[in-house]
Amino acid sequence: MNKAKIMCVVGTRPEAVKMAPVILALKAQPWTETRVLATAQHRQMLDQVLQAFGIEPDVDLDLMQPNQNLTALTARMLTSMDAVLQAERPSAVLAQGDTTTVMVAALASFYLGIPFGHVEAGLRTGDMRRPFPEEMNRVLAGRLARWHFAPTESSRQNLLREGTPAEDVFVTGNTVIDALHTIAGRAGDPVPHGAGRRLILVTAHRRESFGQPLAEVCNAILGLLARNDDVEILYPVHPNPNVRRMVHEMLGGHPRVRLTEPLDYLPFVAAMRDSYLILTDSGGVQEEAPALGKPVLVLREETERPEAVAAGVVKLVGTNGARITDSAQELLDDPAAYRTMAKGISPYGDGKAAGRIVDILQRHHASCS
Ligand code: UD1
Ligand code: UDP
Repeated sequence: MNKAKIMCVVGTRPEAVKMAPVILALKAQPWTETRVLATAQHRQMLDQVLQAFGIEPDVDLDLMQPNQNLTALTARMLTSMDAVLQAERPSAVLAQGDTTTVMVAALASFYLGIPFGHVEAGLRTGDMRRPFPEEMNRVLAGRLARWHFAPTESSRQNLLREGTPAEDVFVTGNTVIDALHTIAGRAGDPVPHGAGRRLILVTAHRRESFGQPLAEVCNAILGLLARNDDVEILYPVHPNPNVRRMVHEMLGGHPRVRLTEPLDYLPFVAAMRDSYLILTDSGGVQEEAPALGKPVLVLREETERPEAVAAGVVKLVGTNGARITDSAQELLDDPAAYRTMAKGISPYGDGKAAGRIVDILQRHHASCS
């Protein structure tokens, strides 16, 4: 039987986290030759994660530029990806999520008639501008995909409502839980913080929050620090200059705020584990933190991940300063409120998503051979 050549595309940090279990599971299979294409839409943050999982790209487009513009990035990526796919001629392409890399991988595959598998398919807010441009990216990738690997039943339902054929949609769980399981036990040393102090972990990077909303988040953090002597902030700052400038200007220099470079995946998981509470607008962190039993306040007006909100372990607080401060204060003051949000549940998967994806692709390969 001919081997299936499967091209796994990764561009940014979260794609590397969530594709790593799929890449490693595929590489263990005798029926496929697995190739890894890094667009390097992110550079350092992509490399950090690939190294943590011991994955080396076969092709690296090295596309990142400082403060890159979406149109220019998309155009450069489409041209270079087309050249690689034409040269490699894979039998299938896989990518995860909703970034520029994913949308371009789906489109470049479509132009060449190569079937595209969408990992983490079917997430929707229903608002094309929130998150921007991710909602449009995943809608487009979904229209172009041959296989839709939906993490949950509600993401499957979103796809069915849009008319996606039911036989092309598979509920697999989210591979982010596989990634967490893979590194469980290796997560690293306790995160240093003052004795008796409670650590609040913060991350924020969404484009729709640049400017005033991010300023409100920073003010809310300053408010929490003023009201609570025992609170310490750990904030690994996203390297996007629109984030970095404001966060350093507003929070830099406070004695109980630690602004760091993005943490490697293992220390970041340790930081989630050791935190009392997490404030974030990240998609992946909304999925990981519930599995680690940590309450999350989401710094966004909506989420495409409603399952943890429904389970009561994640709360949408938006970017209004007063609302953020009040919600965090409640969790700092009220042990019962805290306990209900720190249950330790995993609505996004059981850690076996990658195996299910590989099985589906193997069945397809066997049926074509
Ligand atoms: C991108 C994704 C977003 C995802 C996020 C995860 C798009 C449009 N956005 O947002 O969906 O949630 O990644 O983090 O696909 N930079 C570095 N080093 C890095 C990475 C980024 O310096 O390793 C800086 C560069 O100046 C770069 C800028 O950040 O130009 C923006 O990177 P980009 O990938 O365009 O957008 P993100 O905001 O990172
Ligand atoms: N993460 C990390 N180091 C950090 C911050 C986040 O390794 O300093 C990991 C986190 O555990 C999660 C992923 O990066 O798996 C989320 O990436 P990000 O928030 O950039 O993107 P999103 O998930 O919002 O698309």
